[in-house]
Amino acid sequence: MADALLSILIISGLAAAWAALLVLVRQYVIRYGQVQITVNDQEPISVEGGSSLLAALTDRKIFIPSACGGRGTCAYCKVKVLEGGGPVSPTETPFLSPQELADGTRLSCQVKLRQPIRIEIPADLLAVREYEARVESIVDLTYDIKRFRFRLVDPERIDFIPGQYVQLLTPTYPGNNEEVYRAYSIASDPGDRTAIDLIIRLVPNGICTTYCFEHLKVGDAARFNGPYGEFRLSETDADIIFIAGGSGMAPIECLLHHMRNTRSTRKAVYFFGGNAVRDMFMAEDMARFERDLPHFRYIPVISRPEEGDGWTGETGLVTEAVDRHVEANSAAEAYLCGSPGMIDAAIKVLQAHGISDDRIFYDKFS
Ligand SMILES: Cc1cc2nc3c(=O)[nH]c(=O)nc-3n(C[C@H](O)[C@H](O)[C@H](O)COP(=O)(O)OP(=O)(O)OC[C@H]3O[C@@H](n4cnc5c(N)ncnc54)[C@H](O)[C@@H]3O)c2cc1C
Ligand code: FES
Repeated sequence: MADALLSILIISGLAAAWAALLVLVRQYVIRYGQVQITVNDQEPISVEGGSSLLAALTDRKIFIPSACGGRGTCAYCKVKVLEGGGPVSPTETPFLSPQELADGTRLSCQVKLRQPIRIEIPADLLAVREYEARVESIVDLTYDIKRFRFRLVDPERIDFIPGQYVQLLTPTYPGNNEEVYRAYSIASDPGDRTAIDLIIRLVPNGICTTYCFEHLKVGDAARFNGPYGEFRLSETDADIIFIAGGSGMAPIECLLHHMRNTRSTRKAVYFFGGNAVRDMFMAEDMARFERDLPHFRYIPVISRPEEGDGWTGETGLVTEAVDRHVEANSAAEAYLCGSPGMIDAAIKVLQAHGISDDRIFYDKFS
């Protein structure tokens, strides 16, 4: 018995040592040399092998969306690999549908460059570019949400579709030794292309939000790339239901500016949820939108009102307010932004009111 246990221990130890050695050899000994990447059948680009496809493309200023900083958890960084991607890794398979597995779609952050590779990416991603900007203002919206205005420096203008987001670069700072990108939706009026506003909620110990809240100051230089994303208003006349919470306000604000700029007469109702009065912000801006847009109504909802806080508005979960107000068999379109939990719950309520999946659009801030 003791002999068998000892053998198992020795075999497991040797296996672990072998695996560790392989990782070290891969990292420090194997040199892949220059590897060629061919994007959309254009002239191949030559990069140092061994890194991830996502990192190599970013280095060459070809920007692929990546909301998790290459950790293989957001599935935003999909590209079609036509040749040379190597085997699909187990970290990728949960994010790839059978159709995507069949057509060569991969998570570019998980593809290691070891041989020449041929890939296909949507043409609009080739138009994504990097922007240098300067922080023009930082305004507290709540105890954990701030509004940052970035004045564009180079180039001096940005073209984007209302609802899209950018990826803000977080440089290294004390306590963080890696550069990372994080996604933030553009909140500001798309009528002004020379600056963008981002509404950012502090995530405790979060790399980028800690940087923005504790290190980034007015006058500092900042860098982002974009624009990205499919979240946008349809061009139909259907009624609109907006649902958001926290910093999910950002893209909805941008859509409301767009509706005002285009003198939209679409009927729209906006449910904005928070836990308490202190989570509510931009009430005056919403009142202005109500004045300027003929058929727009703003319904703020808090789940935990407290005695004496003077709250006279709706109470309960934002999804409960949606349930109360949206009529059965609604022909409306719904636009949702915020935490994955809130969005999943809201989708169920909308479906129960007869709104089919093809009329529900969302950006999960995961
Ligand atoms: C398309 C898109 C648009 C987005 N737009 C906005 C926006 O306009 N405003 C905004 O504030 N955020 C937005 N986000 C979220 C944002 O990209 C970051 O994920 C978030 O700010 C956290 O980044 P971080 O580097 O500070 O935290 P990380 O260092 O990435 O995370 C630290 C830890 O916190 C957890 N975590 C990450 N995000 C959250 C969260 N939201 N709540 C609780 N825990 C979390 C992580 O799992 C991790 O364990 C958007 C995300 C996407 C995908
Ligand atoms: S960057 Fe998030 S999965 Fe690849």
